[in-house]
Amino acid sequence: MIRMGLIGVGRMGRYHYNLYDEIGDIVKTAVCDADPELLKSLPKKEDTLISVNYMDILPHVDAVTIAAPTKYHYQIAKDCLDAGKHVLVEKPITTDYEQAVELFDIADKKNLVLHIGHVERFNGAVQEIKKLIDNPFLIESRRVGPYVERMKNDSIVLDLMIHDIDIIMNIVNREVIDIEAKGSVVYSELPDFANVTLVFDNNSVANILVSRVTQKKDRMMSISQQDAFIYLDYTNQDINIYRKGSSQHVFGNKELKYINEYVLERVFVYKDNPLKMEIKHFINCIKGETSRIVTVEHELRSLKVALSIDNIMKKRMGRVRV
Ligand SMILES: NC(=O)c1ccc[n+]([C@@H]2O[C@H](COP(=O)([O-])OP(=O)(O)OC[C@H]3O[C@@H](n4cnc5c(N)ncnc54)[C@H](O)[C@@H]3O)[C@@H](O)[C@H]2O)c1
Repeated sequence: MIRMGLIGVGRMGRYHYNLYDEIGDIVKTAVCDADPELLKSLPKKEDTLISVNYMDILPHVDAVTIAAPTKYHYQIAKDCLDAGKHVLVEKPITTDYEQAVELFDIADKKNLVLHIGHVERFNGAVQEIKKLIDNPFLIESRRVGPYVERMKNDSIVLDLMIHDIDIIMNIVNREVIDIEAKGSVVYSELPDFANVTLVFDNNSVANILVSRVTQKKDRMMSISQQDAFIYLDYTNQDINIYRKGSSQHVFGNKELKYINEYVLERVFVYKDNPLKMEIKHFINCIKGETSRIVTVEHELRSLKVALSIDNIMKKRMGRVRV
């Protein structure tokens, strides 16, 4: 059994906390949060060590999940790796590229598993879509929803768009040669929506829209490739494929009709809890039963693109009057 420790039991950490008991091969050995009141509110478990200092729990665990705020990820992850622990750190791993490289180097030298928590990778539809991809030339992605006050100090790129960047980089698997990024401040001090275009070295294009100021939640991605238009709904984990599309105008007696025809395929998607799948994958990698679904090179490439977009957005920050 792998002895798991959890560092940070806030919004995201609480999901990890609740899932540990559902996963075989691990024991929830220790839990840490800087907030003692929050620790008191956790359901009591006699054999779980509780502490406000993560250094206290390290001697008792084999692996940790870090779900503390992003600004602490680097130091906590470094201390955990230096102590010989496997690490699953919530996304983004850091907001500094060199620090991320350093953490992966330490993990490599010490033969430890270091994963970044990109839960959307384990969405059943995202897993399935990889089998359908064949030289996509246009990708459109939309991740929008209503305003949440507590998110106001987070970068929309590193908080939301990083999921889409990661998935798209995985699908296209080419170098980005051009980035165009636009967005504006609406309610907070940072851009609340962003529209980004990535151009890849094979001239394929990805357009990514993220917003935290849109009244209706919507999370989708579509892919245009030679023989298919693929539409993925992240929320329902559904995939539709449209093929043999044609459109024409038909002139009748009194009216002009527009006809769009296609063949629609609905893909069967195995749906499970993506976070549970992510933790299981981390554990299986520690046990040497599987290899990581995303290479370290890919992890770093996605982070680099996300940080470049974030920099462009910071420089171009504008305000929209509401
Ligand atoms: N993968 C996803 O979809 C996803 C979604 C939300 C958040 N996240 C990531 O998870 C991380 C946490 O986000 P959140 O929304 O849960 O934040 P949060 O503020 O709700 O929770 C963070 C918790 O960490 C605790 N903490 C702070 N410093 C600590 C320290 N030094 N040691 C131990 N605990 C400490 C805080 O007391 C708090 O309880 C962020 O990096 C965020 O980007 C990922």
